[in-house]
Amino acid sequence: ADINLQEIHDLLISVAHEAGRMMLTATPSHLDSGTKKNSADLVTETDRAVEKMVSTRLLTPYPTFSFIGEETYVPGKTHLTAAPTFIVDPVDGTTNFVHAFPAFCISLGFTIDKVPTIGVIYNPFLDELYTGIKGQGAFLTRKGGEKERLPLRKEPEPLVDLSTCLIGAEWGSDRSGNNFELKCEVFKKLAATKENGGAMVHSLRCMGSAALNIAYVAAGQQDVFWEGGCWAWDVAAGWCILIEAGGIMASGNPGDWEPEVDGRKYLAVRGAPKGQKQIVEEMWRIIGN
Ligand code: IPD
Repeated sequence: ADINLQEIHDLLISVAHEAGRMMLTATPSHLDSGTKKNSADLVTETDRAVEKMVSTRLLTPYPTFSFIGEETYVPGKTHLTAAPTFIVDPVDGTTNFVHAFPAFCISLGFTIDKVPTIGVIYNPFLDELYTGIKGQGAFLTRKGGEKERLPLRKEPEPLVDLSTCLIGAEWGSDRSGNNFELKCEVFKKLAATKENGGAMVHSLRCMGSAALNIAYVAAGQQDVFWEGGCWAWDVAAGWCILIEAGGIMASGNPGDWEPEVDGRKYLAVRGAPKGQKQIVEEMWRIIGN
């Protein structure tokens, strides 16, 4: 059957706004937010309540579609298939949400044949909405503003090398094993001077939301985003928006969204008339893929 992408996109935006209202009226606490894998992997009642609302609102009109949500994911059981699938992170940046640091969002992705086809990312605190439909461009609507096409800069500058880049990278919640050592090493190599074997980038940012990081790269507000350990719900929506804005997403395991944790590496590079490939190569050299 024909799938009406515009209709799904509009529904996702309406759901994102409702989720935003839930986040803004919630009062999560630093101390009583629950933890999942460890004390830095937070989850709140709001994460669960938003996911419930979202799955009900999406599956009622689309009962035959699949749904993958961060809070209801079952390791080894939930798999991404070729079916039309909603991929949802109810609160991306839960740690920020708990601390009222204003960089959290809902991330709503939609895939067909595992291809990111619609993306909606909404930061309710700043009232910023990033959207995209495959083949139809990506957009940002800011508080009280017009819908602007991404990237925001009509003629993006070429990318020369990492030294002129602003880079988003995250600690994530996995603070153990090789994955942690790798992250520390990458941070160090990116920041260090060239004499010390580093890339000496303009700077590194840890915004605390993978989805917003990718949206910022799509908009051209930062040049690169790298994180090891992301899940499908962190990247699905941003992936569509990024590609539609002329960016590229390099994955440690192309085509495989659910490899072992060490394989889940995602690297987003903004749209540019030149230099994207060199940046990807330089980054993989540093990351040691
Ligand atoms: C997390 C955030 C964080 C990233 C983690 C994600 P959550 O999502 O996106 O920036 O470093 O890898 O899991 O848990 O807040 O939904």
